[in-house]
Amino acid sequence: MRPALVTVAALALMLSFACQRPAVQPVAKGPATVPAAIVEVSGGKQVSTIGTPLDQPLVIQVNDAQGAAVAGASVRFHSAPGVIFQPASGITGSDGQFTFAVALGGMAGRYQIVATTTGASGKAIELRMDELALGFEQNQGRQLSDLYCTRCHDPESTAERVSNHDNLTAQAHAFSDGAFLNKMSDADLMAIIQHGGPALGKSAEMPPYGRTLSKSGIQALAAYIRAVADPPHQPGEAVYAQR
Ligand code: HEC
Repeated sequence: MRPALVTVAALALMLSFACQRPAVQPVAKGPATVPAAIVEVSGGKQVSTIGTPLDQPLVIQVNDAQGAAVAGASVRFHSAPGVIFQPASGITGSDGQFTFAVALGGMAGRYQIVATTTGASGKAIELRMDELALGFEQNQGRQLSDLYCTRCHDPESTAERVSNHDNLTAQAHAFSDGAFLNKMSDADLMAIIQHGGPALGKSAEMPPYGRTLSKSGIQALAAYIRAVADPPHQPGEAVYAQR
């Protein structure tokens, strides 16, 4: 698709999300309340591919010092150049919430989305949310993972797939489990995928994929596992946000 068409398709998709709004929260009564915090309702930590909109809209809520929702608060959003917000600013509804759609930029990596409102004496109040854009190879890894790996490595079942995680004796970790997977070297990561658990003295419940997948497929899986690691695989890894 040409870039212009991609943008139009992205915006159309984003507009369709912008209309959704979750359950109503209690609203502060009495005199006008002053924003003291912005909290995330939903939409953080999504994984998308470069240049495509996030699947879910981001929903934030502005609260006062007592934790009650603040209606009519002005909010605005920013991130790295190339990130598109739909809309980029607005006013919280009667539930104190605001819903907006986001398309990440053209570079693979973590993006920090910053929502800002104004508190007492003009103080800026911020909420930061992390979103991830996968590059081409990482996205290939995600597709292979969906096909071959998630049924054991993701404890959650979906409509299309029943998780096998709880049937396993050894514990298969979610690929986003950076605390565990970041400690494995690249060589060990490749070895366990290629030759199975016993290659690293681990359980044979982890099957070998050296005959099923090409070397580049296994590399793509490793690239995907590194990309989704939370905490990030490399501390201080680029966060494409303007501070
Ligand atoms: C049939 C279930 C099953 C499938 C399918 C499976 N794994 Fe595993 N995997 C395991 C188990 C169980 C372990 C833990 C082994 C241990 O600790 O003894 C494991 C361990 C691993 C580890 C080491 C980190 C960890 O979670 O302990 C990596 C990396 C890994 N698997 C990658 C993959 C990849 C990539 C695929 C898909 C190509 C895949 N696995 C498919 C069951 C599975």
